[in-house]
Amino acid sequence: MIFRSRVTNIIRNFFTDNEFIEVETPILTKATPEGARDYLVPSRVNEGKFFALPQSPQLFKQSLMISGFDKYFQIARCFRDEDLRADRQPEFTQVDVEMAFVDQDDVMGVIENLFKVLLKEVFDKDLKLPLPRMTYETAMREYGKDAPDLRFGLKIVDLSDVFKDSGFGVFANAIADGGFVRAINIKNGIASLSRKDLDDMTPFVKTFKAKGAAWIKVNEDGPQSPIVKFFKGDEVDALYKKMGAETGDIIVFIADKEPVVCQSLAALRLHFGKKLNLIDEDELNLSWVVDFPMFEKDGEGNPTPTHHPFTAPIPEDEDKLDNDVYAAKSNAYDIILNGTEAGGGSIRIHDNKMQQKIFTILGIDEEEAKEKFGFLLDALQYGAPPHGGLALGLDRIIMLFLKAESIRDVIAFPKTQKATCLMTDAPGDVSDEQLEELFIESTAEIEDK
Ligand code: AMO
Ligand code: AMP
Repeated sequence: MIFRSRVTNIIRNFFTDNEFIEVETPILTKATPEGARDYLVPSRVNEGKFFALPQSPQLFKQSLMISGFDKYFQIARCFRDEDLRADRQPEFTQVDVEMAFVDQDDVMGVIENLFKVLLKEVFDKDLKLPLPRMTYETAMREYGKDAPDLRFGLKIVDLSDVFKDSGFGVFANAIADGGFVRAINIKNGIASLSRKDLDDMTPFVKTFKAKGAAWIKVNEDGPQSPIVKFFKGDEVDALYKKMGAETGDIIVFIADKEPVVCQSLAALRLHFGKKLNLIDEDELNLSWVVDFPMFEKDGEGNPTPTHHPFTAPIPEDEDKLDNDVYAAKSNAYDIILNGTEAGGGSIRIHDNKMQQKIFTILGIDEEEAKEKFGFLLDALQYGAPPHGGLALGLDRIIMLFLKAESIRDVIAFPKTQKATCLMTDAPGDVSDEQLEELFIESTAEIEDK
């Protein structure tokens, strides 16, 4: 708590020193979509109506820019009803930032300077700027995830050209079905990994829906592996060349559809990175991931925003919104700290027509858009300045700075995995009178009631 207070103070001073003004935005508000469920609060004086707690101050900060402020920040409490993990709590704190008349580089520049100050003041470390940037596409291909941990190597290599006509059916078929064969090279793996370590990979990758994990040991007297007997021609030579294989290495493969390959190899990469002590735990590695796709497919195969629906496409890709929405890239950026997304932001849509178009792609018709976001669409008609920003996850940053296991360790009175408060026992029962006042009848079957 003491460390957190100190870091928060440095952040607040950084922004006020740089002429940002801190604005508190409402907690009782309307839904702000950031991809989670809303926490709702019933209104007593407006029968049958509900407030939503903010998933972020996104629409307020945009409204502030449109109304003439040009540098805003807030240490903001956000609420998201979503599945909890070690780096996710139902209420958490963002360092929320927005600026007018800026492009991507301007926003990134401010955040880089903030981290430079933080690392100097907190750890007496000199952060080298600018931070490295990687496209989303490269991150997914070479690290299997959009928040790559760059403290160690074990980069993923695509081998689809080597194995498209492979004698090993599993590989050739995966590629023929539109999938990929990718691998990591564990340098000197033969000396450090046992047969059991290799066998254990199979149940491990099955949790990511992979069918198996193949391996080849690069022995002095030739490759040793259960699959190499199926290879034909110069497959082994081509493989070794592409992987930079040397005697003593172990190459580990996954063949499957792209999401399975990415998730499995990203997890194996991290697993072996830890096991072989390749990660310097004292390093604070910061980098950017840029050029995210505008949309991804939701569970039902419909487009859903990769960031949020107020994110602008990169100008060159605006045409793609008419014919190939999934190919359009957004003007969004994430800052990654040791393989965790520490923050994310974007340049916003400042044009009413473009905002309408995005709503249409998302299946939100004019009436629904007006009902949910009418205030934004109205404001955008009055000549909104170009604007953009970002929000940092303060809890996550404190967790990573302190090498804590979970953000629960750096939050006062955190919630449990089931989103309850152990000390106060919240959420709790309320009296029938209270419910009646709020025009609410519960259908829950609660014991002892
Ligand atoms: P986003 O949804 O990416 O962007 O959130 C920004 C950062 O907030 C942190 N975060 C969380 N931390 C703890 N528990 C959670 N449940 C949780 N959810 C998110 C992460 C994340 O990077 N309005 C946009 C920002 C913008 O566009 O300016 C937003 O909220 O560290
Ligand atoms: P099998 O032919 O099923 O006995 O598999 C031979 C080897 O290939 C085993 O080591 C499996 O773990 C591995 N394997 C099977 N399916 C895949 C796959 N989709 N990707 C990578 N390796 C696989």
